Amino acid sequence: MKVTFYGQNSLALEIGNKHIIVDPFITGNDLSKDKVDINDLKADYILLTHAHEDHVLDAEAIAKNTGATIVSNYEIANHYGDKGFEVHPMNHGGSWDFDFGRVKYVNALHTSSFPDGKYGGQPGGFVIETDGGNIYIAGDTALTLDMKLIPMRTKIDLAVLPIGDNFTMGVDDAILASDFIECDRILGCHYDTFGYIEIDHDLAKKKFANKGKELLLLEIGESVEL
Ligand code: NI
Ligand code: MN
Repeated sequence: MKVTFYGQNSLALEIGNKHIIVDPFITGNDLSKDKVDINDLKADYILLTHAHEDHVLDAEAIAKNTGATIVSNYEIANHYGDKGFEVHPMNHGGSWDFDFGRVKYVNALHTSSFPDGKYGGQPGGFVIETDGGNIYIAGDTALTLDMKLIPMRTKIDLAVLPIGDNFTMGVDDAILASDFIECDRILGCHYDTFGYIEIDHDLAKKKFANKGKELLLLEIGESVEL
Protein backbone atom coordinates (compact mmCIF):
# COMPACT_ATOMS: atom_id res chain seq x y z
CA MET A 1 0.00 0.00 0.00
CA LYS A 2 1.24 3.43 -0.96
CA VAL A 3 0.02 6.40 1.11
CA THR A 4 0.36 9.93 -0.25
CA PHE A 5 -0.25 13.03 1.88
CA TYR A 6 -2.08 16.04 0.41
CA GLY A 7 -2.32 18.18 3.53
CA GLN A 8 -4.75 18.37 6.48
CA ASN A 9 -6.37 14.88 6.49
CA SER A 10 -6.25 14.41 2.71
CA LEU A 11 -4.63 11.17 1.61
CA ALA A 12 -4.41 9.00 -1.46
CA LEU A 13 -4.12 5.26 -0.87
CA GLU A 14 -2.95 2.97 -3.64
CA ILE A 15 -3.90 -0.60 -2.81
CA GLY A 16 -3.14 -2.97 -5.67
CA ASN A 17 -4.74 -1.34 -8.70
CA LYS A 18 -7.34 0.51 -6.64
CA HIS A 19 -7.16 4.22 -5.78
CA ILE A 20 -8.75 5.63 -2.66
CA ILE A 21 -8.94 9.28 -1.71
CA VAL A 22 -9.53 10.17 1.95
CA ASP A 23 -11.00 13.49 3.15
CA PRO A 24 -10.14 15.63 0.11
CA PHE A 25 -9.55 19.25 1.14
CA ILE A 26 -7.14 20.65 -1.42
CA THR A 27 -8.58 23.61 -3.32
CA GLY A 28 -9.31 25.35 -0.01
CA ASN A 29 -5.94 24.59 1.59
CA ASP A 30 -3.28 27.27 1.06
CA LEU A 31 -0.59 24.62 1.68
CA SER A 32 -1.73 22.28 -1.10
CA LYS A 33 -3.89 24.16 -3.62
CA ASP A 34 -0.94 25.17 -5.84
CA LYS A 35 0.80 21.79 -5.52
CA VAL A 36 -2.03 19.36 -6.25
CA ASP A 37 -4.51 19.48 -9.13
CA ILE A 38 -7.63 17.61 -8.04
CA ASN A 39 -8.34 16.87 -11.71
CA ASP A 40 -5.23 14.65 -11.75
CA LEU A 41 -6.40 12.50 -8.83
CA LYS A 42 -7.52 8.95 -9.52
CA ALA A 43 -10.24 7.53 -7.31
CA ASP A 44 -12.29 4.36 -7.20
CA TYR A 45 -13.47 5.29 -3.70
CA ILE A 46 -13.59 8.44 -1.59
CA LEU A 47 -13.59 7.83 2.16
CA LEU A 48 -14.96 10.64 4.32
CA THR A 49 -14.42 10.58 8.09
CA HIS A 50 -16.92 13.38 8.85
CA ALA A 51 -18.74 16.29 7.23
CA HIS A 52 -16.54 19.25 8.17
CA GLU A 53 -15.45 21.38 5.23
CA ASP A 54 -11.74 20.67 5.78
CA HIS A 55 -12.53 17.00 5.01
CA VAL A 56 -15.21 17.05 2.30
CA LEU A 57 -14.60 20.23 0.28
CA ASP A 58 -13.37 18.53 -2.92
CA ALA A 59 -15.30 15.26 -2.60
CA GLU A 60 -18.01 16.20 -5.10
CA ALA A 61 -15.57 17.45 -7.75
CA ILE A 62 -13.42 14.33 -7.49
CA ALA A 63 -16.45 12.03 -7.48
CA LYS A 64 -17.78 13.83 -10.56
CA ASN A 65 -14.43 13.44 -12.37
CA THR A 66 -13.86 9.82 -11.46
CA GLY A 67 -17.24 8.23 -10.73
CA ALA A 68 -15.80 7.13 -7.39
CA THR A 69 -18.03 5.63 -4.70
CA ILE A 70 -18.25 7.78 -1.57
CA VAL A 71 -17.90 5.73 1.62
CA SER A 72 -18.90 7.36 4.89
CA ASN A 73 -21.40 7.29 7.71
CA TYR A 74 -25.09 6.89 6.89
CA GLU A 75 -25.96 10.59 6.94
CA ILE A 76 -23.00 11.72 4.82
CA ALA A 77 -23.51 8.90 2.34
CA ASN A 78 -27.20 9.81 2.00
CA HIS A 79 -26.27 13.49 1.56
CA TYR A 80 -24.19 12.60 -1.51
CA GLY A 81 -26.51 9.81 -2.64
CA ASP A 82 -29.34 12.36 -2.85
CA LYS A 83 -27.14 14.38 -5.21
CA GLY A 84 -26.75 11.41 -7.51
CA PHE A 85 -23.33 10.14 -6.46
CA GLU A 86 -22.47 6.47 -5.92
CA VAL A 87 -22.31 5.88 -2.18
CA HIS A 88 -21.75 3.17 0.38
CA PRO A 89 -23.21 3.99 3.82
CA MET A 90 -21.64 2.59 6.98
CA ASN A 91 -21.95 3.19 10.70
CA HIS A 92 -19.81 2.75 13.77
CA GLY A 93 -18.51 -0.73 14.47
CA GLY A 94 -19.53 -2.02 11.04
CA SER A 95 -17.14 -3.54 8.50
CA TRP A 96 -17.47 -4.24 4.79
CA ASP A 97 -15.33 -6.22 2.36
CA PHE A 98 -14.53 -3.92 -0.55
CA ASP A 99 -12.52 -5.04 -3.60
CA PHE A 100 -9.38 -3.47 -2.08
CA GLY A 101 -9.75 -4.70 1.52
CA ARG A 102 -11.93 -4.72 4.60
CA VAL A 103 -13.01 -1.35 5.99
CA LYS A 104 -14.32 -0.76 9.51
CA TYR A 105 -15.88 2.56 10.51
CA VAL A 106 -14.67 3.18 14.06
CA ASN A 107 -15.41 5.69 16.78
CA ALA A 108 -14.03 9.21 16.83
CA LEU A 109 -14.78 11.88 19.39
CA HIS A 110 -15.48 15.10 17.50
CA THR A 111 -18.45 16.73 15.70
CA SER A 112 -19.70 16.37 12.12
CA SER A 113 -21.90 19.12 10.66
CA PHE A 114 -21.80 20.10 6.98
CA PRO A 115 -20.62 23.65 6.20
CA ASP A 116 -24.27 24.83 5.98
CA GLY A 117 -25.05 23.40 9.43
CA LYS A 118 -26.84 20.27 8.14
CA TYR A 119 -26.43 17.22 10.39
CA GLY A 120 -23.52 15.07 9.21
CA GLY A 121 -24.04 12.10 11.50
CA GLN A 122 -21.39 11.16 14.01
CA PRO A 123 -17.70 11.39 13.06
CA GLY A 124 -15.54 8.33 12.64
CA GLY A 125 -12.27 6.88 11.55
CA PHE A 126 -11.38 3.96 9.30
CA VAL A 127 -9.47 0.76 9.95
CA ILE A 128 -8.51 -0.72 6.59
CA GLU A 129 -7.18 -4.28 6.38
CA THR A 130 -5.52 -5.30 3.11
CA ASP A 131 -3.19 -7.99 1.80
CA GLY A 132 -0.51 -5.27 1.75
CA GLY A 133 -0.89 -4.22 5.39
CA ASN A 134 -3.33 -2.51 7.72
CA ILE A 135 -3.84 1.20 8.25
CA TYR A 136 -5.83 3.18 10.82
CA ILE A 137 -7.02 6.61 9.77
CA ALA A 138 -8.31 8.22 12.94
CA GLY A 139 -9.98 11.27 11.39
CA ASP A 140 -10.53 14.26 13.64
CA THR A 141 -10.72 12.94 17.17
CA ALA A 142 -9.74 13.39 20.76
CA LEU A 143 -7.74 10.65 22.42
CA THR A 144 -10.28 7.98 23.37
CA LEU A 145 -10.13 4.74 25.32
CA ASP A 146 -12.03 3.17 22.41
CA MET A 147 -8.74 3.18 20.50
CA LYS A 148 -7.65 0.31 22.74
CA LEU A 149 -10.23 -1.89 21.02
CA ILE A 150 -8.54 -1.59 17.62
CA PRO A 151 -5.47 -3.81 18.19
CA MET A 152 -7.69 -6.46 19.78
CA ARG A 153 -8.94 -7.15 16.25
CA THR A 154 -6.33 -5.70 13.88
CA LYS A 155 -2.57 -5.32 13.90
CA ILE A 156 -2.04 -1.77 12.66
CA ASP A 157 1.07 -1.20 10.51
CA LEU A 158 0.65 2.56 10.05
CA ALA A 159 -1.68 4.98 11.80
CA VAL A 160 -2.66 8.41 10.54
CA LEU A 161 -3.31 10.52 13.63
CA PRO A 162 -4.18 14.19 14.03
CA ILE A 163 -1.50 16.05 15.96
CA GLY A 164 -2.41 19.74 15.54
CA ASP A 165 -4.22 20.17 18.88
CA ASN A 166 -7.04 22.70 19.47
CA PHE A 167 -9.63 20.89 17.26
CA THR A 168 -8.23 17.37 17.78
CA MET A 169 -5.57 15.53 19.76
CA GLY A 170 -2.21 17.21 20.04
CA VAL A 171 1.18 15.53 19.95
CA ASP A 172 1.22 14.31 23.56
CA ASP A 173 -2.20 12.66 23.30
CA ALA A 174 -1.28 11.22 19.88
CA ILE A 175 1.66 9.48 21.59
CA LEU A 176 -0.78 7.90 24.05
CA ALA A 177 -3.05 6.97 21.12
CA SER A 178 -0.08 5.25 19.53
CA ASP A 179 0.26 3.17 22.71
CA PHE A 180 -3.47 2.39 22.74
CA ILE A 181 -3.46 1.14 19.13
CA GLU A 182 -0.11 -0.65 19.60
CA CYS A 183 1.44 0.98 16.54
CA ASP A 184 4.72 2.88 16.72
CA ARG A 185 4.72 4.16 13.13
CA ILE A 186 2.57 7.29 12.94
CA LEU A 187 1.83 9.60 10.03
CA GLY A 188 0.91 12.99 11.45
CA CYS A 189 -1.97 14.95 9.96
CA HIS A 190 -4.28 17.88 10.74
CA TYR A 191 -1.50 20.36 11.54
CA ASP A 192 -0.19 23.68 10.13
CA THR A 193 -3.25 24.27 7.89
CA PHE A 194 -4.58 27.10 10.04
CA GLY A 195 -3.03 29.28 12.72
CA TYR A 196 -4.79 27.34 15.48
CA ILE A 197 -2.99 24.11 14.58
CA GLU A 198 0.56 25.15 13.75
CA ILE A 199 3.10 22.85 15.36
CA ASP A 200 6.87 22.64 15.95
CA HIS A 201 7.87 19.75 13.66
CA ASP A 202 11.22 18.99 15.30
CA LEU A 203 9.76 19.00 18.79
CA ALA A 204 6.89 16.72 17.73
CA LYS A 205 9.28 14.22 16.12
CA LYS A 206 11.57 14.35 19.14
CA LYS A 207 8.69 13.62 21.53
CA PHE A 208 7.72 10.54 19.51
CA ALA A 209 11.35 9.43 19.20
CA ASN A 210 11.81 9.73 22.98
CA LYS A 211 9.11 7.06 23.35
CA GLY A 212 10.72 4.81 20.73
CA LYS A 213 8.17 5.79 18.10
CA GLU A 214 8.43 7.21 14.57
CA LEU A 215 6.47 10.31 13.56
CA LEU A 216 6.35 10.85 9.80
CA LEU A 217 5.61 14.40 8.66
CA LEU A 218 5.35 14.32 4.88
CA GLU A 219 5.61 17.16 2.39
CA ILE A 220 2.49 17.78 0.30
CA GLY A 221 2.49 15.05 -2.37
CA GLU A 222 5.07 12.90 -0.59
CA SER A 223 4.38 9.17 -0.12
CA VAL A 224 5.22 6.31 2.22
CA GLU A 225 4.87 2.58 1.63
CA LEU A 226 3.37 0.20 4.12
NI1 NI B 1 -13.43 18.26 11.94
MN1 MN C 1 -10.76 18.88 10.55
